[in-house]
Amino acid sequence: MNLINESILEYSLKKSNKESEILKKLRKETNQKVLHPRMLTSPLQGRLLSLISKLIRPKKILEIGTYTGYGTLCLSEGLDSNGTIHTIEVNEELIDFQNKFFNQSDKKNQIIQHVGNALNLIKKISGPFDIVFLDADKGNYINYFELISPKIKKGGLLISDNVLWSGKVLEKTDKDDLDTQVIKKFNSLLQKNKTFETVLLPIRDGLSLSRKI
Ligand SMILES: C[S@@+](CC[C@H](N)C(=O)[O-])C[C@H]1O[C@@H](n2cnc3c(N)ncnc32)[C@H](O)[C@@H]1O
Repeated sequence: MNLINESILEYSLKKSNKESEILKKLRKETNQKVLHPRMLTSPLQGRLLSLISKLIRPKKILEIGTYTGYGTLCLSEGLDSNGTIHTIEVNEELIDFQNKFFNQSDKKNQIIQHVGNALNLIKKISGPFDIVFLDADKGNYINYFELISPKIKKGGLLISDNVLWSGKVLEKTDKDDLDTQVIKKFNSLLQKNKTFETVLLPIRDGLSLSRKI
């Protein structure tokens, strides 16, 4: 389901900063060679991640769900000169692809890849984080929130992707559709949580920005 009018999206993209050549190539190759290219962060969302990162100048970022590394590179654009981005991916077959593009980035020494299940690995990566980008398996969003929220710095930002879940959040949920059930609960949990202030942006598949108070 396309949540945003295509022409509006095209216009918005045309009137925004352009992605780098590395990102353009990464996107092209992901579409040509990698399974499920729909999982890629979109160019417009990528520019937003980059801008947010540049505003915060983070020392430490955590990304949950690297895929081919588009979001990693966008977020790395704003890193403090001594900052690092930790990114976790369960699919080890994606590592060579990620490296090919990370190695072309001037931030390559600031990117720390972790391979394995994020539910285990988050516990091993010390905070505090200035930004956490949550973009992995939706059925675990609440579990991830419990693990990461204590590690986010006061004033830090949790960015959660796919929170509109192709519009399924508006529909009656099938009892077997665990992902939609969790996303709905996750959105309510964020909205009610007193330690975060949240804005849910209807960008692409829905992006929540939650600032820790
Ligand atoms: C939507 S994609 C991430 C897109 C990426 N952030 C980007 O900017 O293009 C989700 C990724 O999460 C990974 N993933 C799913 N479950 C995971 C888990 N339990 N631990 C770590 N990664 C996981 C998937 O293999 C997939 O590559």
